[in-house]
Amino acid sequence: MEPLRIDVPAPSRAYTITIVDRGVDRLRAVLDAAKLPERRFLVSSPVVWRFHGAQIAKALGGAETPILIADGEKNKHLATVSRVYDALTKANADRASTLVVVGGGVIGDMAGFAAATYLRGIPLVHVPTTLLAQVDSAIGGKVGVNHPLGKNLIGAFYQPHAVVIDPLLLKTLPRREFRAGLYEVIKYGMTSSPSLFDRIGRERTAIFDRSPEALTPIIAESCRIKADIVVKDERESGLRRILNFGHTAGHALEAVTKYRRYRHGEAVAYGMLVVAALARARNALAEQDQKALAALISSLGPLPPVADVSANQIVDAMKHDKKMVAGRLHVVLPTAIGATTIVDDVTEKEMRAALKAVGFKN
Ligand SMILES: NC(=O)c1ccc[n+]([C@@H]2O[C@H](COP(=O)([O-])OP(=O)(O)OC[C@H]3O[C@@H](n4cnc5c(N)ncnc54)[C@H](O)[C@@H]3O)[C@@H](O)[C@H]2O)c1
Ligand SMILES: [Zn+2]
Repeated sequence: MEPLRIDVPAPSRAYTITIVDRGVDRLRAVLDAAKLPERRFLVSSPVVWRFHGAQIAKALGGAETPILIADGEKNKHLATVSRVYDALTKANADRASTLVVVGGGVIGDMAGFAAATYLRGIPLVHVPTTLLAQVDSAIGGKVGVNHPLGKNLIGAFYQPHAVVIDPLLLKTLPRREFRAGLYEVIKYGMTSSPSLFDRIGRERTAIFDRSPEALTPIIAESCRIKADIVVKDERESGLRRILNFGHTAGHALEAVTKYRRYRHGEAVAYGMLVVAALARARNALAEQDQKALAALISSLGPLPPVADVSANQIVDAMKHDKKMVAGRLHVVLPTAIGATTIVDDVTEKEMRAALKAVGFKN
């Protein structure tokens, strides 16, 4: 199979995403073609390394001893990033070093931040290993960590020098993580691509079998959509906000349940249902499109329930998230499958009604 290449000519740095089965085996060739410095440091997590470390170490032959740091949202803080600085310093890594990051979004965000800040920036290559990381976090250049008082409060914009996506790495991903990533793919369908939306439904079985023939097109289309938006609005001053589709209520749901109960993608799935209910109530979205979204989401399997989470609590969390200006919320609303509009006049009352329509309690 020929590799698929997606160029990302971002203003701060242009790079290429390479998507191909066994892409890991081509790592060295990709890094050499991108003329990346030859001292190569791998950063990964013990979990990911146990599954894929041998293949990756072999592919990169001659790389330094891997730096393994714990993943999981609770480890996404500066102390963990410090372990990467420690290892790099001890090994005398200089600017002629490349950091190759192999993991999900947590490892990618943390090691990406280390690459952005160590010696004020060394070359960074992402090898994302979760579906969420392959379609979202490894592209676009946001890196960073959580602060005890809030998620992703410390970070930078730092585009990678290359991204290598190997759909076969997803074979070992737990089913729940895999599904969580698929909700983000639905998001891209909802904001930008009716054909992507339809494809998820049509090929659901092959997708769940993790067949690379089924996965490659949906990963590639998601990357194209995100890359296109990032290139036009790298620092999120306008257009990039549409990628927050479903994330207003999603983030609030994660926050009120202390990031423990839902995977990020699951919370986004609820968030998408909420904005669809809002749009429907305003007559901005056809009933059949709202139903198509709900049907596609439920076809992936049940979501953890929200019946005991109160709509008021969610609205309060949105206020803290500064999504609210003068009592009105900024929201990305769907107007059709593949089309959105940004509004800034959603009232608390409307939001509460939409949350209740989706199943949140009074
Ligand atoms: N930078 C961005 O633009 C951006 C965008 C979206 C999300 N994020 C961040 O991404 C993070 C979530 O990322 P995630 O969903 O990938 O979670 P994660 O990195 O925590 O990975 C989820 C789990 O899967 C395991 N895992 C990873 N790859 C595996 C594989 N191939 N086989 C088996 N197990 C594997 C990990 O050990 C972990 O337990 C959040 O912190 C979020 O803030 C960043
Ligand atoms: Zn997201």
